[in-house]
Amino acid sequence: MSRPIEAIKHQMRPTKPTLAASANTRPATRSGTFAIGGDLPVHRLGFGAMQLTGPGVWGQPADRGQAIAVLRRAVELGINLIDTANSYGPYVSEELIREALHPYPKGLVIATKAGLARTGPGKWISLGRPEYLRQECEMSLRRLGVERIDLFQLHRIDPKVPADDQFGVLRDLKKEGKIRHAGLSEVNVAEIEAARRIVSVATVQNQYNLTYRNSEDALDYCTRENIGFIPWFPLATGDLAKPHGAVTRIARQLGGQPAQVALAWLLKKSPVMLPIPGTSKVKHLEENTAAALIDLDDSMMEELTNSQRNPNEHGSSAL
Ligand SMILES: NC(=O)c1ccc[n+]([C@@H]2O[C@H](COP(=O)([O-])OP(=O)(O)OC[C@H]3O[C@@H](n4cnc5c(N)ncnc54)[C@H](OP(=O)(O)O)[C@@H]3O)[C@@H](O)[C@H]2O)c1
Repeated sequence: MSRPIEAIKHQMRPTKPTLAASANTRPATRSGTFAIGGDLPVHRLGFGAMQLTGPGVWGQPADRGQAIAVLRRAVELGINLIDTANSYGPYVSEELIREALHPYPKGLVIATKAGLARTGPGKWISLGRPEYLRQECEMSLRRLGVERIDLFQLHRIDPKVPADDQFGVLRDLKKEGKIRHAGLSEVNVAEIEAARRIVSVATVQNQYNLTYRNSEDALDYCTRENIGFIPWFPLATGDLAKPHGAVTRIARQLGGQPAQVALAWLLKKSPVMLPIPGTSKVKHLEENTAAALIDLDDSMMEELTNSQRNPNEHGSSAL
């Protein structure tokens, strides 16, 4: 029996008071460590806090108690990277994080973003005017209750505003000590390089998962340059948690769940990969975090990698 199978089966048995069992009560600690910007270490398997808001990422969650419970459980499970944005709710996700976790445990990294305006449920509009980015940084500081934001990400480069002006705000906020590290979202290699001429880029957050790999170039670049790569929609908005194809075949072999296999594939793909699966449910959070206990072997990695059919869709029947 290979180590991963033992690890997963162990996780699924009733907890026993053994050393191994207590190590598995904080599974995220087993996902490996990455130092954001070279000096901010996180366990690589994080949590995305977008799903905690109302439908269309708008307004309050249906069950506020459950949202708070998810955030607290994430920290208990060893997660110390939580991704959010001013636009999730808007503001609701950041407010929930503060309510659930402030005063923050030592070592917890909260990554937020600005650069998208919200005009209604499911509506997102790029807004990169420097005064807006600065205002939203100030408001995130206030909402989160911190003196400095650990990781502040430009949610989108606004094509209506010179890109250098948007990168320039990140540089200035960093110099002023309002943010510790700067990140980008939905960018290609040329854009990352353009930004790096102005400000040091600690992370790149692009859509990426087993069935959507359009950012392979950006991922390779980040791996080479030791820039954290945060894949959004790591579960293809839940498609990869559904039972079909290679993820399910391999999950059955390991005694795990499809979502765990999809996340384990990401973790193994690159040492700079920082997946942030999102969920509104404690049960799914626990299941997803146990992915850190899976070590896919080379043949499983190959089968999963090759099972991709349509790289331009979130989900694929092959998976
Ligand atoms: N930078 C950007 O432009 C951008 C864009 C989108 C998202 N993001 C970030 O990426 C994070 C992740 O994205 P996401 O949450 O939208 O997508 P995701 O992680 O790919 O999938 C989340 C969806 O999968 C379901 N799910 C999660 N775990 C499951 C499980 N074990 N079994 C069955 N269903 C499961 C969730 O539903 P339940 O709630 O029912 O579990 C939810 O609908 C977000 O939270 C956000 O922080 C960034």
